[in-house]
Amino acid sequence: MHKSFIAKPKHAARVHLFTSAGFKALQDDPFPSARAIASAQDFTGGAGQVVLVPGDDGSIQSVLFGLGGGKDALAVAALSARMPEGDYEIADDGGQPFEHIAAAWADGAYRFERYRTTRTKPPRLKVPGGKEGERLSRQADAAAHLRDMVNTPAADMTPEGLQTEMAALANRFGAELRATVGEALLPAGYPMVHAVGRAAAVAPRFLELEWGKSSHPKIALVGKGITFDSGGLNIKAGDGMRIMKKDMGGAAHAIALAELIMGADLPVHLMLYVSAAENAISGSSFRPGDILSSRKGLTVEIDNTDAEGRLVLGDALARACEGNPDLILDFATLTGAARVALGADLAPLYTDDDQLAADILAASARTGDPVWRMPLWDPYLADLKSPVADLVNSGGSFGGSITAAVFLKQFVDAKSWAHFDIWAWRKAKYGRPEGGAPCSLRAVWSMLETRYGA
Ligand code: BES
Ligand code: MN
Ligand code: ZN
Repeated sequence: MHKSFIAKPKHAARVHLFTSAGFKALQDDPFPSARAIASAQDFTGGAGQVVLVPGDDGSIQSVLFGLGGGKDALAVAALSARMPEGDYEIADDGGQPFEHIAAAWADGAYRFERYRTTRTKPPRLKVPGGKEGERLSRQADAAAHLRDMVNTPAADMTPEGLQTEMAALANRFGAELRATVGEALLPAGYPMVHAVGRAAAVAPRFLELEWGKSSHPKIALVGKGITFDSGGLNIKAGDGMRIMKKDMGGAAHAIALAELIMGADLPVHLMLYVSAAENAISGSSFRPGDILSSRKGLTVEIDNTDAEGRLVLGDALARACEGNPDLILDFATLTGAARVALGADLAPLYTDDDQLAADILAASARTGDPVWRMPLWDPYLADLKSPVADLVNSGGSFGGSITAAVFLKQFVDAKSWAHFDIWAWRKAKYGRPEGGAPCSLRAVWSMLETRYGA
């Protein structure tokens, strides 16, 4: 079971969740003296409000927690983030689906302690046993795994480190892993992965995991695995480089989804493609003005070596299309412009497939995991014209997330494709700490479960 869940606690503190409106309209006391305690401590059900009620022995017997407007599916994360070790059960759900509460609890109880000399034990939430508990547990594990991968510093989460992650997954689920490493990328036809990653001490690589029966619908997941983005010769300023260990966040999303698919034994034929490279600086760096060839055959003039994600993804998407899958989903921390457009929380979605967009947005509403559809606006291809090659790799700052998506589209020839320009990070906000974070993971997984689940 996930480490912040438990099926059969010996003793559990009772947690009462209330929206502000729900608390106001409350008829019966949730437990004797609850109202008196709540009013003495100004509890109104406002977002993030906590009241701890001790029992006779001094241990926590009950907890009141405020959900505010009740619109934030992960609101309960602000509770588990501050609860001490111990077991808790939901006595009042405040109208929240239990699946949201469980995801939120695990989210708040998560801690990245790989580099701590002292470790803590998380508070545990009582969840159902059996199949449903396992399902919630797998979902919480995948989110935590994603965050661990993103939070691990670039010195340890290298292109080889990503390969190790995928090898472990392949091993666990009996999948096949193929790796094309270093100079072998050139004869194998991944020139853009090679160009971006060749300056780094750890060799770039293209990783391919295959799982499932070939008679099942074929799904391809593609991830940007830039393990550190210095910007290359167009070097980033210090502030912009500070959190670039997270530039493999797209790969972490693709890997976490693969883990969910295989863990649930979803009847699909899964292909997982990760371009793993570090965008580093050395004498062998690729340069502005260089013209790269690509797997697809298109030539790309480099305007800016910091627009490296679309290069490694271009080769990966071309590769994914060769297998003629029914669906391709790619995840990438592709542009700062995506954050300028939509802020920290909303995950930008690009696709030409209206049915796919509808399914993803429905899943987003169901899971409370925010996704926003963006325009895959073909005319902006004009911004990617090069005087000397088929394409240039940067379309400037106007509509930067859109031009990046339109760039990717030039490498896609598929039945159905969606691209997510995610942040894979969050700031300290809503009572949750800063660090690596899933963006669209729950929504996309729910869409896949609904479409392909038995
Ligand atoms: N990894 C970055 C994008 C990024 C930056 C994501 C900050 C999240 C936060 C990407 O490789 C990049 O550097 N993109 C450039 C593109 C530009 C040079 C056209 C950007 O967004 O500035
Ligand atoms: Mn970059
Ligand atoms: Zn990048």
